[in-house]
Amino acid sequence: MRRWVAILSLFVLLLVLWRCAKDVGISDASLTDSNQGPTPYHLEIPPGFPDYFLENENRLTEEGVALGKKLFFDPILSRNQDISCSSCHLQSSSFSDPRVKSIGTTGEETAFHSMPIFNLAWMNEFFWNGRAKSREAQALQPVTNPVEMNMTWPEVEIRLQSHPEYPTLFDAAFGTDEIDSLLVVQAMVQYEMTLISSNSRFDRALRGEIALTEQEQIGQIIFNSEQADCFHCHGGVLTTDNSFHNNGLDDDANLPLGLMEVTGKEEDLGKFKTPTLRNLVFTAPYMHDGRFQTLEEVIDFYSEGVHDNRNVDVLMEFAYKGGVEMNSEEKEALIAFLHTMTDSSFIEDKTLVPALED
Ligand code: HEC
Ligand code: HEC
Repeated sequence: MRRWVAILSLFVLLLVLWRCAKDVGISDASLTDSNQGPTPYHLEIPPGFPDYFLENENRLTEEGVALGKKLFFDPILSRNQDISCSSCHLQSSSFSDPRVKSIGTTGEETAFHSMPIFNLAWMNEFFWNGRAKSREAQALQPVTNPVEMNMTWPEVEIRLQSHPEYPTLFDAAFGTDEIDSLLVVQAMVQYEMTLISSNSRFDRALRGEIALTEQEQIGQIIFNSEQADCFHCHGGVLTTDNSFHNNGLDDDANLPLGLMEVTGKEEDLGKFKTPTLRNLVFTAPYMHDGRFQTLEEVIDFYSEGVHDNRNVDVLMEFAYKGGVEMNSEEKEALIAFLHTMTDSSFIEDKTLVPALED
């Protein structure tokens, strides 16, 4: 008798599972029905992170994120169909480029070192000199930049429109198969928003889940000290103030324009966007021109090499007055602390890249 009950329950269970599977199938199919609309994508804010900035008009959806991911990895956007966004923003480099300068579709070099792409949800100005004021405005630029993808938007639109898959994918994401530049960048931005790195030992220590080693804690104290003063510009959970500073890389004779190229103001001469310090082990070389190959070189610079140029940030005062001068143990401790900001799970996350069969 018991056996029969068991067999019967198994049968009922299988029936239920079969119905569920069928239901999923039905709702999947109906996604292409324009009445249904795309599925909202829930972007989780990691514990300890602030609320993110999101323009309401570009609401994240499953279909939009998937489309953006496909576009980000597709060389179709470049003149010679040989360069995708991911050619200069590699996941293994935390979506930056291990080369000092990147190479575009014409074989030319970019003006600056590539930037890592993650935690963009908490930024509102983009590029080293801040020339894009929104994620969408940023994403328009690589396509037409002559040394990057060297295309025109009308040409990109024609290519995508005549592609066997893209019109259907745009329809699923945006309810229209008429592809234009705005929809392309909206999809790419939706994907970029999902590139969140928040799982380093630094994060777990902030959440009180683990304790840092003694050496790392010494490094943290140096980081937050008035002398080294890293925290003023690279503080908080985001490790950037999202602002622009001249950190004294160059002397007066060699000051690059930086933010002044955008604002035209003398006071912005030599200012660059404060980069995140997360995932530095993956993002070498460092600075806007990739001049430092190692973190040791970066720390030597902050310790002994800061130039007292005419626009250097007041926060660098100790550094350029010869004040920081860390000894080798202090430098090692500071680097050990910076290494706690390494999130390997982010560069290994296979869901962030298109599946092989795509
Ligand atoms: C040929 C290499 C190359 C290609 C292709 C490329 N990028 Fe970039 N990307 C760079 C470089 C170099 C920078 C920094 C340039 C600067 O500041 O002027 C950058 C900066 C960025 C930034 C700014 C990040 C920040 O923190 O401000 C974002 C976002 C970005 N790229 C996204 C993209 C997207 C999306 C695409 C594809 C449409 C793309 N990139 C294609 C090289 C490239
Ligand atoms: C006045 C603000 C300021 C202070 C203080 C400061 N930084 Fe920076 N940091 C910047 C800016 C701006 C850049 C980018 C400069 C450039 O490329 O021209 C930068 C770049 C870096 C980079 C390179 C990151 C990359 O991806 O290229 C590292 C590493 C770094 N800083 C670590 C530190 C450490 C450690 C300290 C303390 C010893 C410190 N910073 C103090 C503003 C600051």
